[in-house]
Amino acid sequence: MRAAGRAHHPTRQLVDDLMSRWFGSRRFEWLDVGVVGMVDYERLRARLEFRYTGADLSESVAEDSRDYLRRPDDRVVVWDIEDAPAAELRGRLDLVTLRHVVNHCEGYERPIAHAAELLRPGGRVVVVLHLALVDGPDQLLRHHDWDVAGEVIGNRYGRAGFFTAFTTLFEQPLWVRVDDGHKPNDLIVGRKRAEPLSGGQPLPPMHRLRMSTGRRNLPRRLLGRARLRLLARGR
Ligand SMILES: C[S@@+](CC[C@H](N)C(=O)[O-])C[C@H]1O[C@@H](n2cnc3c(N)ncnc32)[C@H](O)[C@@H]1O
Repeated sequence: MRAAGRAHHPTRQLVDDLMSRWFGSRRFEWLDVGVVGMVDYERLRARLEFRYTGADLSESVAEDSRDYLRRPDDRVVVWDIEDAPAAELRGRLDLVTLRHVVNHCEGYERPIAHAAELLRPGGRVVVVLHLALVDGPDQLLRHHDWDVAGEVIGNRYGRAGFFTAFTTLFEQPLWVRVDDGHKPNDLIVGRKRAEPLSGGQPLPPMHRLRMSTGRRNLPRRLLGRARLRLLARGR
C-alpha cells in the first residue's frame, strides 16, 4: 500500500532531522505506531541504525507492512496503542513515534502513557497531531460526520489538557506548529522523566514553522529546518 503523499509531508523532514541529531550513527530501539505505507521505515532504513518495531491496530496493515522489512530483527506487530503494551518491550525503547495516529484514538491519555511505559528513562517520544490542538476542551468528533466533504475528521484535543498529561510524563517539551500549506499540524517531542511529575507543568511555548511544499517554498522550508535545529538544542 503506497502512501507517496505522506512521505513528503514537511513534518517528516523535521522529525528526520531530530532523529539524526539524537542518534547519529548510534543504534537505537524504535517503536513506530501506525505504519500504513511504511514510509518512515523505507526512508530511514538506509540512513540510521536502529532495530525497528512497527505497530498497528489493523491486521491487514501489519501484514502488508511486513513486506517492506529489510532486516531479520525488524518486525511489525498488531497492537492498539490504547491497550496495555507488551511486557517484553516495557522500559526498553529509545524512541516511540506516534504520527498521524493520536487524533484517531478515543483520547490522548492512554497513548501517551503507553509510550512512556515503553521508553527507557530519557527516551524520546515524537507525537505528530494532524489535527492541531485547540483552545478549550477536547472536541471529540471521531465517531461523527465521517462523510463531510473536504473535512478532516477525528478528535481534536484541548492543548491545556494535552500538555498536562504530556509534561507529567515527559520533560523538555518542544511544541512546533507546522503549517504544511493546507492546515496546521502539531509536532511535539519530549524525553521520558525518571519519575512522573504530579500535575504537569505550564504550557510550553508554541513555535510556528511554515513548511509548504513546492519549489517556490523551498527557502522557507530550509529556514524552518534551521530554526528547528536551534529549538531542538539540548532536547
Ligand atoms: C493516517 S495513518 C498514519 C500512518 C503513518 N504513521 C504516517 O504518519 O503516515 C494512521 C495509521 O494508524 C493506525 N492506527 C489508527 N488507530 C490506531 C491505534 N489506536 N493503534 C495503533 N494504530 C492505529 C491506522 O491503521 C493507520 O495505519
